[in-house]
Parts: sequence; structure tokens; C-alpha cells
Amino acid sequence: MSVLIAPSILSADFLRLEKDIEMLNNSEADWIHVDVMDGVFVPNISFGFPVIEAVAAIAKKPLDVHLMISQPERYIERFVKAGAQYLSFHYEGSIHLNRTIQQVKEAGAKCGVVLNPHTSVGVLLDSMADLDFVLLMSVNPGYGGQKFIPNSLRKIEALRKLRDALNPDCLIEVDGGVNEENAADIISAGADVLVAGNAVFKAANPAQAIKNLKTIV
Ligand code: DX5
Ligand code: ZN
Repeated sequence: MSVLIAPSILSADFLRLEKDIEMLNNSEADWIHVDVMDGVFVPNISFGFPVIEAVAAIAKKPLDVHLMISQPERYIERFVKAGAQYLSFHYEGSIHLNRTIQQVKEAGAKCGVVLNPHTSVGVLLDSMADLDFVLLMSVNPGYGGQKFIPNSLRKIEALRKLRDALNPDCLIEVDGGVNEENAADIISAGADVLVAGNAVFKAANPAQAIKNLKTIV
């Protein structure tokens, strides 16, 4: 299977969001990554339900909603209703992880857990069998356009071992600072899905940038 590409609309032009979604619809993008920030779990605030619903109405690719919010269990059903087909929330923001995972699945979305750069992949030992995907942050969450943290490669390799042993169908998604220069290393470490914000939307030709990431080996 070739790597899946999930462009992050955090780096899109919000004044012409419809055009950017149409570009993604007509591109080789696999998922559309949607970053939700609450100003508490992370220092930044992005967007919420009305924007996600508007995007879902015209998107022809599944929405991959990444919740950077405290106590995500308060809003799971609303995000699925708004259009999230893949829904992930942070390990660090949810005390009763197992319960929140079941909540996402019962709401009808594919469930992912997100780990911050300092959180060891070993914390997922007892959750791996329940997950559709794991999202590894390769920057500290909150902003687009940051630099990839090199230790993330070691974490991807460790997570791949855990995944292969416990749940081979679970996808490994990597988010933060991914670009055409480091994508080959990230893929060979074990990533199945690459999130890319600036590498896509700040490129002269975003659709071509998606194609380039997709065909890197
Ligand atoms: C960061 C977000 C990322 C961000 C990635 O908190 O979770 O999804 O949009 O942007 P780039 O690819 O520019 O690092
Ligand atoms: Zn994200």
C-alpha cells in the first residue's frame, strides 16, 4: 500500500476555503486533516463545528479530525455528526482513555489516539488492539509550520513494532513538520499516513506537492 496523504487545512486560506477543498477533492489527497484547538489543551484556537460542517458538505475525501482539546469526551458525538469519519484525541487530554475510545467507535467513526512528542508509545500497549490508527505528533501541537522533531523517527519505529505485534490493521499517522525532504525517512520508519500543512498549502502548486509526497519511496 502506498502512503496516504492527509493535507491539514490549518494552513489553508480561510478566505478561499471552498477553493482549497475543491483542490483537495481533485488531488491525490486521501484524507482531509482538520485540526481543532481549544486554547486550553494547546495555546492556540483554530475552528469548530460550523467550519467542519461546511467543509464536510463539499469534501469528497474523508475528514480526519484531530482534537487538540481538553476532555474530548464532552464533544465526540458532535464531531462525528459534524462529519468526522476519522476522529482522534490526545492521550494526554483524556483520563479514561478506554471509555473515550469506545465512545468514538459507538458514535460511528474510526478511532485514533494521539501522542505528544514526550509521550512514550508504550502507554498504548493496552489500547492498541482497540484502535484504528495512532497519530504521532512530530512537533508540539498548536501551530502549523514547525520543524520536525528528529526523535519522532525512533518513536515511529517503536510504534511499528507494537502495532505489528498487537494490531497489524492499525495505521500509523505522523503529524508535524512533514515535507518532501524528510518524508522518505518517515515512511521507512513505518508511517502509513502523512499529515502535511505547510508542505502542501505553502507550495507553489499544492496538488503537485501532494502528488510528490504520495510518490516518495
Ligand atoms: C499542529 C497540527 C498539525 C499542523 C501540521 O498542531 O496538529 O496538523 O497543521 O502542519 P505542518 O505540516 O505545517 O507542520
Ligand atoms: Zn493535526
